[in-house]
Amino acid sequence: MKIGCPTEIKPQEFRVGMTPDAAREAVAHGHEVIIQVGAGIGAGFTDEDYRAAGATMIETAEDIFATADMIVKVKEPQAVERKMLREGQLLFTYLHLAPDPEQTKDLLESGCTAIAYETVTDSRGGLPLLAPMSEVAGRLAPQVGAWTLQKANGGRGVLMGGVPGVAPAKVVVIGGGVVGTHAAKIAAGMGADVTVLDRSLPRLKYLDDVFGGTFKNQYSTAGATAELVREADMVIGAVLIPGAEAPKLVSRAQLSEMKPGAALVDVAIDQGGCFETSRATTHADPIYEVDGIMHYCVANMPGAVARTSTQALGNATLPFLLNLADKGWKQACEDDPHLLNGLNVHAGQLTYYAVGKALGIDVISPSLALKS
Ligand SMILES: NC(=O)c1ccc[n+]([C@@H]2O[C@H](COP(=O)([O-])OP(=O)(O)OC[C@H]3O[C@@H](n4cnc5c(N)ncnc54)[C@H](O)[C@@H]3O)[C@@H](O)[C@H]2O)c1
Repeated sequence: MKIGCPTEIKPQEFRVGMTPDAAREAVAHGHEVIIQVGAGIGAGFTDEDYRAAGATMIETAEDIFATADMIVKVKEPQAVERKMLREGQLLFTYLHLAPDPEQTKDLLESGCTAIAYETVTDSRGGLPLLAPMSEVAGRLAPQVGAWTLQKANGGRGVLMGGVPGVAPAKVVVIGGGVVGTHAAKIAAGMGADVTVLDRSLPRLKYLDDVFGGTFKNQYSTAGATAELVREADMVIGAVLIPGAEAPKLVSRAQLSEMKPGAALVDVAIDQGGCFETSRATTHADPIYEVDGIMHYCVANMPGAVARTSTQALGNATLPFLLNLADKGWKQACEDDPHLLNGLNVHAGQLTYYAVGKALGIDVISPSLALKS
């Protein structure tokens, strides 16, 4: 198969769909890999790295889209890219179609087959191609929160680990899923006094068994949250109710009870945020203040560490990518129902129910698409 990887063109996107390592593996499987010149620069991979891996460097996205059998990307195709997709071409990337009628319409019109990273599943009910970005955002949260806490950035001037004789920062993590667990691990590693709140008892049991000595956990009620938030130097928002907007768990009124200069890091901002006063910010201007409390609410946190994020995403996508290339999408999806769950669009028809429901478009079952 001819696998093409264009440069990402969405503003502020520095990741790339294939690492040189992924290219090397695909070439070793007998495939031809074409990468756009400069595609890896934002993530720290040079054209020479890709050439050494056996890939061919192509000057323009047009040439990649025109000749590749499969396009591998990170972000959803932008309008100009969607115009270049063609019938029978396979697209493997994040799509997030439900809130995006324009993109959905264009993909349907293109006749391509699109497999969305975010809906591929695994045998434990997880989302293996979404989890790496949650791991990155989670581990980044205490790092950006610690920076926000510094005096020059408007923060309280508290050091995460304290020093001998001075207490460490108190960090509260609301939501103990992938983001929350990774955030708590790093905050505890920095020496902070960390408590994780969650509403799932099985999750709390897991956290207690695995991290009992590293950080505390508590059942998430409004009362427990209010008490912990009042005492906190940093609160990390990491809740998710699948398919729904994030619940608002800290109100504006509660800010006045918090320590002045405390930091709120709302990782759940991409689902609307879990603090009443959250609004999405960018890496260029990440923090703002409300009632003396500093807010960090960047919606695409992994972009700050594009190299790590690219490698983490590449590790997760590679086995699927190789299967798709080796077997063709139909056989690969027939052999792996979790990959089939990633199928969103095929030959002008939607194949993912939640997207169809959100956009009011008819859907055919993915297994029917396999037979077409
Ligand atoms: N800003 C970014 O760049 C970025 C990057 C990755 C993920 N995210 C977002 O981070 C959020 C968390 O993602 P995740 O992968 O950790 O999800 P997850 O499903 O692994 O974890 C969410 C956790 O929240 C818990 N929860 C739900 N309601 C709660 C409540 N009221 N109180 C306490 N806990 C509650 C759930 O029980 C679950 O354990 C999502 O909104 C995700 O989209 C943002």
